[in-house]
Amino acid sequence: MAHVLGGWRSWRWFSCRKIVEVIIILVFVDCGCAQKGGDDGACLTGLNEDLQDTQGSLASWNSKDLLSPCFNQSWSTLTGITCNENRVYSIQLSSKGLGGIISSAISNCSFVSLVDFSDNNLKGEIQLGLGNLLLLSTLNLSLNGFSGAIPDALTNCTYLNVLDLHKNGLTGPIPVGLGYLQRLRVFDVSDNDLSGPIPISLANSSTGPRFNTTSFMGNKKLYGYPLPPPRQHNLSVVGIVGIGLGSGMLSLILSFTAVCIWLRVSEQRLAAEEGKISQLTTD
Ligand SMILES: *[C@@H]1O[C@H](CO)[C@@H](O)[C@H](O)[C@H]1NC(C)=O
Ligand SMILES: *[C@@H]1O[C@H](CO)[C@@H](O)[C@H](O)[C@H]1NC(C)=O
Ligand SMILES: *[C@@H]1O[C@H](CO)[C@@H](O)[C@H](O)[C@H]1NC(C)=O
Ligand SMILES: *[C@@H]1O[C@H](CO)[C@@H](O)[C@H](O)[C@H]1NC(C)=O
Ligand SMILES: *[C@@H]1O[C@H](CO)[C@@H](O)[C@H](O)[C@H]1NC(C)=O
Ligand SMILES: *[C@@H]1O[C@H](CO)[C@@H](O)[C@H](O)[C@H]1NC(C)=O
Repeated sequence: MAHVLGGWRSWRWFSCRKIVEVIIILVFVDCGCAQKGGDDGACLTGLNEDLQDTQGSLASWNSKDLLSPCFNQSWSTLTGITCNENRVYSIQLSSKGLGGIISSAISNCSFVSLVDFSDNNLKGEIQLGLGNLLLLSTLNLSLNGFSGAIPDALTNCTYLNVLDLHKNGLTGPIPVGLGYLQRLRVFDVSDNDLSGPIPISLANSSTGPRFNTTSFMGNKKLYGYPLPPPRQHNLSVVGIVGIGLGSGMLSLILSFTAVCIWLRVSEQRLAAEEGKISQLTTD
């Protein structure tokens, strides 16, 4: 009897351990999948489809190499691509005469650290999929034609060091969450069409200004520290006096001219009538 009970106990113990083991394996495998995430081939193939290569800068981007972009651990035959441990590490396509848009497929380049599409003719909104690139440390989309809002999704990129979006057509407010990115040390949204208040988290730090005027200028509807207070729309006294004097002079000149013309016309009429009269009297 005791023997049977002991056996049952140990069987129960055994099955409990088994279940725990299975759970551990499941969790472990899941974590492994997450770390392996993304598909560089799908990422670059998708990018290639939506970019317009007007200058033949991407001649090396053939469909075969796009699908397995890393030639060895660190090197790729594709223009603008570098690898690290066989995964795409950087996409640097600055000043390549590119048009079109950045494909949402970019979210598949899960291990990318540097994305630079600056100084091209790219359009559309800033891709939300960039928010899935959790290792992104530099994003430079400056000097393009990007429109729409700066996506909140970028606040997901906790390693972001450099965010340069200057000289585009971006609208709407600056996401407050960007200020909470601890590592951010270069931030430039100047020369866009952004509006609303500058988040305090980007403007002030405990030791003084975090980012200065240079980061924010050239956005007419953006306000708050560190930008200078908006210029008054009221006309200055000098302006008002100037306009008053100007319009006074103008009306003076106009009425003078009118009087002159009237005088001249009536003079001519008078002369003509006098001529008639003298003709009548001589007759
Ligand atoms: C990768 O290939 C390139 C080009 O052949 C070579 O210069 C580089 O040394 C290689 N790197 C490694 C880590 O093998
Ligand atoms: C990422 O790659 C996977 C597998 O290739 C594909 O099914 C998925 O559609 C891609 N995601 C995006 C956003 O392109
Ligand atoms: C972003 O790219 C532009 C143009 O290529 C360059 O002038 C600028 O310095 C870059 N920004 C940063 C922070 O490196
Ligand atoms: C932020 O990252 C998580 C984890 O990868 C992802 O599931 C989520 O969609 C991202 N959020 C945004 C707004 O991109
Ligand atoms: C930010 O700094 C400016 C200038 O030092 C100061 O006038 C302002 O009150 C500060 N704002 C906050 C919320 O600390
Ligand atoms: C703003 O800060 C940058 C460095 O972060 C510096 O190069 C620049 O001169 C500063 N501009 C002003 C107007 O203070």
